[in-house]
Amino acid sequence: MIKDNPGHSAWYIERFRTMAAEGADLDGEARFIDAMVPRGARIHDAGCGPGRVGGTLARLGHHVVGVDIDPELIDAAHDDHPGPHWMTADLSTLDLADVGISEQFDVIVCAGNVMTFVDPATRGAVLERLASHLAAEGRMAVGFGAGRGYEFADFHADVAAAGLRTHAQFSSWHLHPLTPESDFIVAVLGH
Ligand SMILES: C[S@@+](CC[C@H](N)C(=O)[O-])C[C@H]1O[C@@H](n2cnc3c(N)ncnc32)[C@H](O)[C@@H]1O
Repeated sequence: MIKDNPGHSAWYIERFRTMAAEGADLDGEARFIDAMVPRGARIHDAGCGPGRVGGTLARLGHHVVGVDIDPELIDAAHDDHPGPHWMTADLSTLDLADVGISEQFDVIVCAGNVMTFVDPATRGAVLERLASHLAAEGRMAVGFGAGRGYEFADFHADVAAAGLRTHAQFSSWHLHPLTPESDFIVAVLGH
């Protein structure tokens, strides 16, 4: 995407800065995640972009590690949301122990359609790598929309292949029920 549209990252950063300045509610996912754990939890914001979700979770008192493949977005996360450990890395090959982060996470959040932005050939690897960073009792919340080239059934097959179980499913970060007509999924996964 960066190759095809070199200005995309700057546009994306500015879009969220503008929405934040206008007082838009950008915290739905962070509220969902905050409700899953006591304060002070270890949280991984997977595909964090410019830090919208992890930044809020850090301000709420959690210990956040955010990873994104796009260094421009990680620079913006550093600028806009100081506090979390932001780093540039590819989720499909992620091994945080390599960079001295050996902790496993109480929650991993994968918000903002990240699973439909990763290279489709690596979706299984991304879920497997995320599972390997999840604490034994940890949970992972993954949300993405329909019509983005990743059928919910294929996602569930990849979840099972990664050794994960689905604990709960919703059609929004506001906990609306998932129905066959839903155009969005939020899945809560665990070992
Ligand atoms: C729509 S953005 C969502 C950003 C953020 N999670 C949010 O909700 O504000 C999707 C993100 O996935 C990231 N991404 C795509 N493939 C990735 C990969 N293999 N490893 C890490 N991040 C990736 C992109 O760089 C982009 O920041």
